[in-house]
Amino acid sequence: MSKKSKVTPWEVEIKDENDYERLIELFGVSKIDDNLLEKIKKHTNDLHILLKRKFFYAHRDFDKVLDSFEKGEKFFLYTGRAPSGKMHIGHLIPFILTKWLQEKFDANVYIQLPDEEKFWAKKVNDYEKIKELAYYEAKIIASLGFDPNKTFIFINSEYIKNLYSAAIYVARNINFSTAKAVFGFTGETTIGLIFYVSLQIVPTFFENSYPVIPCGIDQDPYFRLQRDIAEKLGYKKASTILSKFVWGLKGPYTKMSASDPSTTILIDDDFETIKQKIMKYAFSGGQPTLELHKKLGGNPDIDVCFFWLRVLFEENDKKLKELEERYRNGTLTTGELKEYTALKINEFLEKIRKNMKWAENNLHKFMYDGKLASKMWNWKFEPKV
Ligand code: TYM
Repeated sequence: MSKKSKVTPWEVEIKDENDYERLIELFGVSKIDDNLLEKIKKHTNDLHILLKRKFFYAHRDFDKVLDSFEKGEKFFLYTGRAPSGKMHIGHLIPFILTKWLQEKFDANVYIQLPDEEKFWAKKVNDYEKIKELAYYEAKIIASLGFDPNKTFIFINSEYIKNLYSAAIYVARNINFSTAKAVFGFTGETTIGLIFYVSLQIVPTFFENSYPVIPCGIDQDPYFRLQRDIAEKLGYKKASTILSKFVWGLKGPYTKMSASDPSTTILIDDDFETIKQKIMKYAFSGGQPTLELHKKLGGNPDIDVCFFWLRVLFEENDKKLKELEERYRNGTLTTGELKEYTALKINEFLEKIRKNMKWAENNLHKFMYDGKLASKMWNWKFEPKV
């Protein structure tokens, strides 16, 4: 990593594409290459753009998981979100891919909402507010279209009795020096956060088959530790599918922060807010004047709007290519590109807004009494060895 770059689940600092390459070596993961994409496509026919455009760029063992799948062994999906403030569009990335994989592979999905994590990390101070927020975020996630009978969404503080039956074993098998080396804990870290590591590992033991975990690469450290202890407890090593980070509004490799509205689009933003934020804050690869832009053209490689379209919001490859060409040759202005991006993001969020009522009415199935959820309220960890 470059000197200043840092990636732990609580601090993410990526400076350029080289840092992503270095993370592959540092974490010992594999690149998602065309061979793997072809292998996935054999089962799915098409590829989600998050895979096709390689925003999910690294993985552990997903090729092995697919080999077993071909022999008739199913896998399950697991991911999560730690409520802290409002959710932004970056937070949706792992859930979008998870939903697609559920549909294509007919897999069970487990979604953890650890309401204690950001409180113990001292990222938020009002625990009661966070707990309330967890239900709202559960609805946002459900509204992406997960199957209510094959998806279990749980809030840690509610489901803790079940989680604890496994945490007892997990916490015994990880010592402080290992956790410190992996997560960078210091003398200032709360003891809550140190124990929390075991709670994020537990759901990888919900079934006997392979756990597959789509998430941002910052979350990989948990699952590296899981792989050290899984077989010892008689379970399978976790497979991860890892994404890069969506840039914030302020420019390439900047962060999205829900507490600073000038850095991101929130799931709750209406069309007017989306438009205003993009017009005002989105870092542009365009020229300083319209005249110069028409003469010299813009640079889509550093343009936040173009980046967002490429990552998620413009699914049509032909249209994306056309936008790129027109931006480079100056016939598409920054204003027009921003306007188009605002429309596309709004189109995407409109689907969520429309589904929220359905999600609200069906939340009980996801959390308590759907087919998978009702089974999971009776789940108890059984060490196999
Ligand atoms: P959290 O709530 O910080 O983030 C939720 C998920 O969103 C990813 N993410 C992003 N992805 C792309 N671009 C961004 N700008 C961006 N910002 C955040 C994160 O990598 C994460 O996958 N500890 C977890 C919650 C958790 C979890 C899990 C995550 C519990 N169990 C299992 C993954 C798998 C957390 O704080 O996520």
